[in-house]
This record gives sequence, C-alpha cells and structure tokens, in this order.
Amino acid sequence: MTIINNYVMKNKVILLWLSVCLILTASAGCKKREAEPQVVLKLGHVLDIAHPVHKAMVYMADRVSEKSAGRMKVEIYPNEQLGTEKESIEALQLGYMAMTKTSTAPMEGFVPQMKIFGIPYLFRDSEHCWKVLKGPIGKELLLAGQSKGLRGLCYYDAGARSFYSKKEVHSPADLKGMKIRVQNSIMSIKMVIAMGGSPTPIPFGELYTALDQGVVDGAENNPPSFYTSRHYEVCKYYTLDEHTMLPDILVISTRVWNKLSPEFQQILQEAVDESVEYQRKIWAEAEQNDLKTVEQAGVKVIHPDKQPFRDSVKSVWDEFEGTEIGNLIKQIQEVQ
Ligand code: GCU
Repeated sequence: MTIINNYVMKNKVILLWLSVCLILTASAGCKKREAEPQVVLKLGHVLDIAHPVHKAMVYMADRVSEKSAGRMKVEIYPNEQLGTEKESIEALQLGYMAMTKTSTAPMEGFVPQMKIFGIPYLFRDSEHCWKVLKGPIGKELLLAGQSKGLRGLCYYDAGARSFYSKKEVHSPADLKGMKIRVQNSIMSIKMVIAMGGSPTPIPFGELYTALDQGVVDGAENNPPSFYTSRHYEVCKYYTLDEHTMLPDILVISTRVWNKLSPEFQQILQEAVDESVEYQRKIWAEAEQNDLKTVEQAGVKVIHPDKQPFRDSVKSVWDEFEGTEIGNLIKQIQEVQ
C-alpha cells in the first residue's frame, strides 16, 4: 500500500513540476511577444504617491504606453528618490534624467523669467491664474528654458500656498522671529523677509525632520502637500493667507526631447495635455478633502484677513518696477 501511495505521490509531483515549467515557458513566450519599449523616459519628482500631481503623472504615463502600444514608456520615481528639485533640474540640463516635475519656484534659478510666479498675490484667483497659464504668457514661459536644456511640457495646478507652523499666525506680525522653511528660491526668501519672518531654504524631503527637530518653526504649502507630506503631524496651525500661486511644471530635457521622433514627441505631448485636464479635476477635490482631513487630525485652520499680508509684500512688487518682471506683472494684471 505504502509503495503504491509513494508511486502515486511521485507522479503527482512530476506532473505538478511539468505544469509549472509549461506555465513559465508560456509566460516567458508571451512576454517576448509584447512590444519592447524603444524609448524609456525616467521622471523623478519629490512628491508622495498619494499626491494628486503624482496621480496625474501616472495617468500621463499610462496614456503614453497606450498611445504608443508599449513602444514608449515613462518610468516615475517619486519621493525625491532621484534627487531634490534643484538636482533634478540640473540632471535634465545634462541629459542624465529625461523628465522632472518641479515647482516653478526652483526653476527661477535657471530660467529667470519664472520669478514672475513668485510675486505674492500676483493672481486674483485660480481662474485668473489658469487664464494666464493657458494663454500666450504661460505658453511663452513654458518654453523660456528651452535653450538652457529645459523644455516645459505643461503646468499642473498647485493651488495656493499658505503658512503652517507650530504657533498661531494671524498676521505678518506673528511671523516676526519665526524661522520659516522656503523653497530653493530667491523670490520665496524675499517674500518671507518682507513679511517679517526668517526664511530658511530646505529641500522638501528633509522638511519633516527639520520641523520635528525644531530647525524651523514653520513652512508654507498647499493643502495636498501639507497633508501627503505628513507635516500636519508636527504643525498644528494652518493659516490660509494664500500668498502665492506657484504652479507645478513638468519639464523634459531639451536634449532628450530633440532625440525623440516627431511621432513620439506628439504622443508624449498629447498624453501630457490629457493629464492636465485630469489633474485639474482631481486637484479641486483633493484640496478640499485634505483640508478637512488635517482639521480632523487636530490642525486649527485659520482664515486670516489677507490685506495685512498683501500690504507687507509691497516692497517685493516695487523692486521689480521698470524691469522685465515688472512688465510681465502689468501684462498679467491686464488678463481678464
Ligand atoms: C509643492 C510642489 C513641490 C515642491 C514643494 C516644496 O508641494 O508641488 O514641487 O517641492 O511644494 O515646497 O518644496
């Protein structure tokens, strides 16, 4: 009996083993039949995968694969895996990285015209901002870095930035003596100084620890970034003064772009444009939900009188009078 059982068992094992081999061979064969990508574009950025801007880029990458039938692929590396925004922009210039998504704030160090987005209270509201971004001024700015190796593909909505901190802020006077983390951007530094705070540039990925350890007393950002970065765990006051509307920008290395065939350039740009529409929809929802979520987590959301904040940055506006940025300010104000 035992001998028969052993015999049956042995055969079962052999059969199982054979079927596993068959499945493996078949799937290997299938894989080979799938189109191998001819072009793989690496895209690095600093945001979390729960962030609506990351989700929009995933959408864009899916559209690229679909439209090219797998011949072109965009690989996304979130959470600062490939470097800070400044490092990523530099990598694009050298052609080491194909694409990055960055705030327009650090772009100003490479494309000086981008300083315009750092002018506090430049846009009347989100509608005004998007009219400008989609119009001739926005289009020109998108391509302004082309000769420096940085070709903008689109803007993504990044809402308005507001202060969050460990103590209550109701007016610029409350910022006095507070160390506020800013992006790698002269305009952000100028703004915080004008408001009376002490600006400290720190990369986004290092900010949680910097806040936690008291290296800085606060920072500023939009609700989805405040939430997905978990900075709300450390900063219990969020003051919606909405000082800047710095859009995010998706950039491709000019060198990489120029090597793409016209067909691939078109596929990529179409996929990007579609992702913008998708992103704007999910942004509005995320902004409201994330604000609610941080409130439920114990954050006090403050709605201050914005006028004192506006008044405090008048010197930043005045400084640019008669310059290229000053002229751009006027043109933007005229957009209805
Ligand atoms: C926003 C923006 C990021 C940027 C971050 C920051 O979240 O989307 O691109 O890195 O602000 O404050 O550094």
